[in-house]
Amino acid sequence: MNVLVLGSGGREHALAWKIAQDKKCNRLYVAPGNSGTAEVGTNIDLNPEDFDQVAQFAAENKVELIVVGPEAPLVGGIRDYFDANDTLKSIRIIGPGRDGARLEGSKDFAKTFMQKHDIPTASYQTFAKGQVAEAKGYLESIAPPYVLKADGLAGGKGVLILDSLSDAQREMEEMLSNAKFGEASSRVVVEAFLDGRELSVFALTDGSSYVLLPNAKDYKRIGEGDSGLNTGGMGAISPVPFADAAFMEKVENRIVKPTVEGLKADGIPYIGFLFFGLIEVNGEPFVIEYNVRMGDPETEVVMPRIDCDFLGLLDLASKGELHKAKLESNPNYAATVVMVSKGYPGKYEKGKRINGLNEVKDATVFHAGSRIDANSIITSGGRVLAVTGMSKTMEDALKKAYNGVEKIDFEGATYRRDIGFDL
Ligand code: AMP
Ligand code: GLY
Repeated sequence: MNVLVLGSGGREHALAWKIAQDKKCNRLYVAPGNSGTAEVGTNIDLNPEDFDQVAQFAAENKVELIVVGPEAPLVGGIRDYFDANDTLKSIRIIGPGRDGARLEGSKDFAKTFMQKHDIPTASYQTFAKGQVAEAKGYLESIAPPYVLKADGLAGGKGVLILDSLSDAQREMEEMLSNAKFGEASSRVVVEAFLDGRELSVFALTDGSSYVLLPNAKDYKRIGEGDSGLNTGGMGAISPVPFADAAFMEKVENRIVKPTVEGLKADGIPYIGFLFFGLIEVNGEPFVIEYNVRMGDPETEVVMPRIDCDFLGLLDLASKGELHKAKLESNPNYAATVVMVSKGYPGKYEKGKRINGLNEVKDATVFHAGSRIDANSIITSGGRVLAVTGMSKTMEDALKKAYNGVEKIDFEGATYRRDIGFDL
C-alpha cells in the first residue's frame, strides 16, 4: 500500500515510524515532513492545506491511503474535497470530513453535541458578537475561576482561565468586540471550571466500530511543576496510572461509545481518530475538549505501545471494517521528553545544529521542528525533538528518555526535568 502522511511534527514522525514498520507498506510519503520522517519515508515538499497540490501528488503517485496528522486540513475539508471528485474518491483518508471536524473546529458545536447526547462535560453558555452585555452579566452570575473559550481554532491559545471578574469581563469584550483571536472569537463559550486530573484518550473509528488506543497524559506548561505558559506539550506518559480499568470503563460507556453513536445518529460519517481531552473529577470523567486528530506529544508514547500492525488498523478503518480489528497493546510504560528551542513558546531562534542524535541507544528520538541542512540536522521550530523511553516501570521509562536527552545537544536546548512528577 502507498501511504501519504500529512504534517511535519513529532506526531507525524511517530505515525510514519509505526506505519513504515508494516510489511504492507510499500511507498511511504510524508508532506512536508521533517528530518526524522526522511529516515522512514520520503519527504514531499507540499502544503497539507493546499488540497489541489495534495490531490495532484496523490493521484500521480498512486497513493491509496492519506493519514492526516494536524487538524487544519480536516477542518478545511480535505475529505470533502476528495469525495467531491470522481477520480480522487477512491483514495482513502484517515480523518473526518468538515462536518465531523467541527467537534474540534467549533467549541460551541462540540458542547451542543455533548449536551444532546448526554456526554458528561462542564455546563456552559455561548455568546455571539452582539451579546457582550449579556456575556458580562452571565459572568457576574457564576463563580470564579472563569473559563472563556474562543469558539474556533486559535492555535491552542483560545482558552483563558481567569480568577477575577473584571479580567474575565475585559477579556470577553476583547474576544467578542475586538476579535482578540480573529474570527475564532466571534463566539465565546463560557464554561464551569472543573478541578481535577487531565488525561488524553484516543480512539480510531470508522463511524460504527472503534478501537481504543493506549491513553496518555501530557504536560502542557513550559515550566516545571506545571508552571508558566501553555505549550503544544513538553512531555507525555502512557499508560496513565490513575486511569484504572473501572475508570476507563466509565470513559468508554459514557463518552467514547455515545460519541461514536451520536455522530452516527446525527448523520455525520466519521473515519479517523477521536481524541478525548478528559478531566477526572473525584473518579468521574468529563470531556474538556474533542480533537479530531492524534495528540502531540501523546502520539510519541502511544505509537510505541501499539503491538499489532497499525497500518492494518488504519486500512480496516478506512474501509469501514474496523469491527474485524483487534488492538494489541504493550503493557510497558512509554515516556517522552520534549526538547524545545530556548524562548519557546515565545520567540526563539532557529537553525541551531543538533548533535549527538546517533549516540542515543536505548530511546527513540522523534523529530519535530528539525530539518536537514546540507549534511547536518538543524532546528527549525519551537518543539524540536521528543525522546521516548520504554520500560516495565514509569521511572525506568523516564530514565531512558532522560538518558537519551542528555546525549543530544543544540544551542539553547530546553526541556522539563520533571515529566511524570505528579504520577
Ligand atoms: P482546551 O483547549 O479546551 O483543551 O483547553 C485548554 C486547557 O484549559 C485544558 O487542557 C485545561 O487545562 C484547561 N481547561 C479547559 N476547560 C476547562 C474547564 N472547564 N475547567 C478547568 N480547566 C479547563
Ligand atoms: N497535546 C495536546 C494536543 O495535541 O492537543
